[in-house]
Amino acid sequence: MAVALRLSCLCFLQLLIVIVLFINSSADNSIEEAEQFPSLSNSTFVNRLSGNDELRHEHAVDDPEAIASMVDTSIRNSTERRKLGYFSCTTGNPIDDCWRCDRHWQRNRRRLADCSIGFGRNAIGGRDGRFYVVTDSGNDDPVNPRPGTLRHAVIQDEPLWIVFKRDMHITLKQELIMNSFKTIDARGVNVHIANGACITIQFVTNIIIHGLHIHDCKPTGNAMVRSSPSHYGWRTMADGDAISIFGSSHIWVDHNSLSNCADGLIDAIMGSTAITISNNYFTHHNEVILLGHSDSYVRDKVMQVTIAFNHFGEGLIQRMPRCRHGYFHVVNNDYTHWEMYAIGGSAAPTINSQGNRYLAPVNPFAKEVTKRVEPWEGSWKQWNWRSVGDLLLNGAYFTASGRAAPGSYARASSLAAKSSSMVGMITSNAGALS
Ligand SMILES: *[C@@H]1O[C@H](CO)[C@@H](O)[C@H](O)[C@H]1NC(C)=O
Ligand SMILES: *[C@@H]1O[C@H](CO)[C@@H](O)[C@H](O)[C@H]1NC(C)=O
Repeated sequence: MAVALRLSCLCFLQLLIVIVLFINSSADNSIEEAEQFPSLSNSTFVNRLSGNDELRHEHAVDDPEAIASMVDTSIRNSTERRKLGYFSCTTGNPIDDCWRCDRHWQRNRRRLADCSIGFGRNAIGGRDGRFYVVTDSGNDDPVNPRPGTLRHAVIQDEPLWIVFKRDMHITLKQELIMNSFKTIDARGVNVHIANGACITIQFVTNIIIHGLHIHDCKPTGNAMVRSSPSHYGWRTMADGDAISIFGSSHIWVDHNSLSNCADGLIDAIMGSTAITISNNYFTHHNEVILLGHSDSYVRDKVMQVTIAFNHFGEGLIQRMPRCRHGYFHVVNNDYTHWEMYAIGGSAAPTINSQGNRYLAPVNPFAKEVTKRVEPWEGSWKQWNWRSVGDLLLNGAYFTASGRAAPGSYARASSLAAKSSSMVGMITSNAGALS
């Protein structure tokens, strides 16, 4: 797991700055909170926050149901357009239809930034910057990256839309630590990040990762790694996640193929929010997606994540995702393989499962889609976990709990839920497209 607070002193300073910036709207207690942040395991600190519903993050929304409802509308709009046959290109997948219907998308690459839906819909990545063409797949120097390498591109301070000159296989010696306002856009080429360190998104905003094959990520660390032109620092061991999101927001991870890493395929922790994970193809992995690292870290109540149009495929075991504290909209995904369970959680997360296709495995003891990591039913009965319009196959069952959907939302989603019959079509191109 990706925590173990691997922060150098310099990172800690950065962290203080970030926190002070984040909570400057409530300036009266900002200094006090910033000072307390490092004592995460201090129960006084945790208790003080846990009774506190005032937790805010400037990039989290007050009404997550409204964003879920907006996702439903965009899906319905796309599936309607498809039925009406307006354009022969439409698939019913609103993200893909947004850019793939443009035959000249290669000339308009940055338009992709306007195609996201859900909580990560405002992630603009490097939309407002220039292009950076990665030409060099080798020569990874974690401290002094060479121009032309992916590492040199992602650490820059300015917004960049990063593309690749040709097909590439990149093996990183240390984590690829991204700076804010970057898009990695591998459309049209075949780019693998594999057999070494993988991607770290830490204390930044506005990242789009599209079209990569990320696999066989290994633990690395105990080394210096550069995170910006002006800063490098000591990294302790990294667990070997494909994509690790730490204290970051406005993140969109779309159309990647992810498999077989030492730790998670995607981990989002430590107050990360405004995230969309869409159109990815996950295979051959045990603990697939972790959203929220610990039950006691109540700041993850601000976590809001949309998980849409992904294919959870062969060789997966559990955590698709495993959630804590926040609000998770899981919509129109295709679950074709799990060995233990699909969706799990603890610490009272809200799970809004809608229009997914859940195909249970043969094992009669693994038919339940859901898993609560909380033995006391009296406690989890209050958690809001709902299933609307999911297609449950081969004996799959979803154990719901808590409140039903609010009225206005239920009306909208009952219409959109029909699209579970289209999940096969909507996810048929999941993963990297080349
Ligand atoms: C925990 O935090 C409280 C309040 O800030 C402080 O007084 C106390 O010494 C801390 N305890 C530990 C073990 O860090
Ligand atoms: C859905 O379509 C309607 C009518 O064309 C449009 O007004 C609305 O903005 C669309 N909503 C979304 C979320 O795409």
